[in-house]
Amino acid sequence: MQASSAQDGRYSFICEWYDNNAAIIRRYQFLFYPNDNTIEMYDLKNRRQFLKRSQCNSVHLKDLYVGSIVNVHSRQLTLVEYADDFTKRALTNVKQKTLGLIKPDAISKFGPIIDMTYKQGFVVTNAKMTRLTRGQAEEFYREHSGKPFYNNLVSFMSSGPIVAMELITNNGIGEWRTLLGPTDSATARSDAPGSIRAKFGTDNTRNACHGSDSMESADREISFFFGQPAAFPNNASLRDCTCCIIKPSAIKEGLAGQIMTAICNEGFEVTAMEMFHMEKANSEEFFEVYKGVVTEYMEMVDELTSGACYVLEISSPSGKFDNVAKAFREFVGPADPEIARTLRPRTLRARFGVNKVNNAVHCTDLPEDALLETEYFFRILSQ
Ligand code: RTP
Ligand code: MG
Repeated sequence: MQASSAQDGRYSFICEWYDNNAAIIRRYQFLFYPNDNTIEMYDLKNRRQFLKRSQCNSVHLKDLYVGSIVNVHSRQLTLVEYADDFTKRALTNVKQKTLGLIKPDAISKFGPIIDMTYKQGFVVTNAKMTRLTRGQAEEFYREHSGKPFYNNLVSFMSSGPIVAMELITNNGIGEWRTLLGPTDSATARSDAPGSIRAKFGTDNTRNACHGSDSMESADREISFFFGQPAAFPNNASLRDCTCCIIKPSAIKEGLAGQIMTAICNEGFEVTAMEMFHMEKANSEEFFEVYKGVVTEYMEMVDELTSGACYVLEISSPSGKFDNVAKAFREFVGPADPEIARTLRPRTLRARFGVNKVNNAVHCTDLPEDALLETEYFFRILSQ
């Protein structure tokens, strides 16, 4: 292992990579040099350099913390420990994780709320649309048990879908509570008019969002929702639906919330949503039909593994669209955003795409595949 040094401001972690072929977890020292955005890796078992110092544009300082997944040359590495004191001191307590919930009263506003979250500088590291049973709501809010509003709160929180999000940024716990504003939505409107509760809350209980109030509750609440995924099934109906993926490149550009908002404004309903970290094998399998057909196949596979993506089940329970897969495909627009901007400027790809690979969203091409693609995520990959 390289001696650690604070002089050049490099950050050092221990990371793990699951080697599918050998079916073992490999451990490396992972070094990041913010000055020139380069990384370097050492194989800890064989005590030799594994990757010589080189540029890596998919990795940024804001993505580096214990527990984060970074993508290096199509390998997903999990940072499991700080490897020196400099890194530990620089990053612990500075980068904080918190749990954000979009409550049932604001579920139809999840797009604008997620947009505000990104604009405030948060990275969303996990997200799932789900529901709380009454028992789970009682457990989640057990610190309030016995208070006059408890019963009402528990009924409200188990009354409909919610979105649970693991969020991270510098001083994340306080930042998120500031973005939420005061507990009472009316007070929020007078004292913090730009806050989430001012904009989307109703009253003292129906106040749009929740946020952890300390590091201890953040730990408890994050593991409450994400530590036992089977307890919180996704909401997918898997009926008359189609599949939409908001791609990693669009998320990195901070567009996820705006794309969600645009989809809802068009009259489509998002009946399930979950964040996935795609592995190469899954990405290849998912895009299999494009192999040998689309020249960018390999780049599409790599793009989808380059970071987290959101997968949305799109449907139309209100009946606005007869054939939701076909209507959504039209709304997404031509695969090439340049062509979309010329021919179909109102489409998602015209508005949010960059090029044929970073074209903001994937949607199911053929209506007959729509259920299969939706099931691939919400039945097979979803835990
Ligand atoms: P949260 O936990 O949801 O982030 O909100 P908070 O810290 O600002 O508020 P807290 O005191 O922890 O209360 C939890 C939730 O209970 C509901 N509540 N209703 N008097 C009332 O009717 C009342 N007071 C609190 C709110 O939904 C609050 O967010
Ligand atoms: Mg609270």
